[in-house]
Amino acid sequence: MAAKLMVGNWKMNGSLAANASLLSEVLAVMGGLTCRAAVCVPAPYLAQAQALLAGSALALGAQDVSAHEAGAYTGEVSADMLRDFAVRYCIVGHSERRQYHGESDVTVASKAQRALAAGITPIVCVGESLAERDAGQTEAVVKRQLAAVIHTNGHCISEIVVAYEPVWAIGTGLTATPEQAQHVHAVLRAQLQAATAHADRVSILYGGSMNAANAADLLAQPDVDGGLIGGAALKASEFLTMLKAASR
Ligand code: 13P
Repeated sequence: MAAKLMVGNWKMNGSLAANASLLSEVLAVMGGLTCRAAVCVPAPYLAQAQALLAGSALALGAQDVSAHEAGAYTGEVSADMLRDFAVRYCIVGHSERRQYHGESDVTVASKAQRALAAGITPIVCVGESLAERDAGQTEAVVKRQLAAVIHTNGHCISEIVVAYEPVWAIGTGLTATPEQAQHVHAVLRAQLQAATAHADRVSILYGGSMNAANAADLLAQPDVDGGLIGGAALKASEFLTMLKAASR
């Protein structure tokens, strides 16, 4: 398996000044680490982050991409535009997009397709709500969400990254136990194996209240290939502790 992949999702946080100090603190100690790492920044800060990250081991990511190629889609950002800023990763189908912006499985699959066509690795988020978990639907929900992406992107599915983010664990301080995460990751791995001979190339990240205290135990699970980190990625020292845990 490749080195672990740790991705900070800044969500709608940051400012020119705050980004500059966060990135300079992280970059100052990135050198000795062996994990792969990226930050997904708000679109207006892509140019700033591109300049600050140039030549570093910290890759640039975006948080969303349009399902359309170009044209009359006010407010949207296309995959080609992201590529102009040397974006390497793009989150698609984050539960906050699915929940607050009505993104369907089909839309998410199209977004992954646009990213792949532009040479950007989509980080495809899947995850169940608390009600779905309580109803015993966790596996069915994540499999349905991933199946749509596999269906649309069949032959290049080994080029994606998957993030398992249980909705009930995001921003709540409730983390899936390492065993709960491993169980779902194994389900997703098996689904990818059925779709491609190269499923071992797909990094499956865990996301949802991952922090400096719980990262090592989650990352020790055989199918947890990294993390997608929200709040804890906004603090340089905490993010760095997690990058170190992923570099062991
Ligand atoms: P938190 O780490 O803040 O729970 O957010 C997780 C997440 O949604 C990352 O995409």
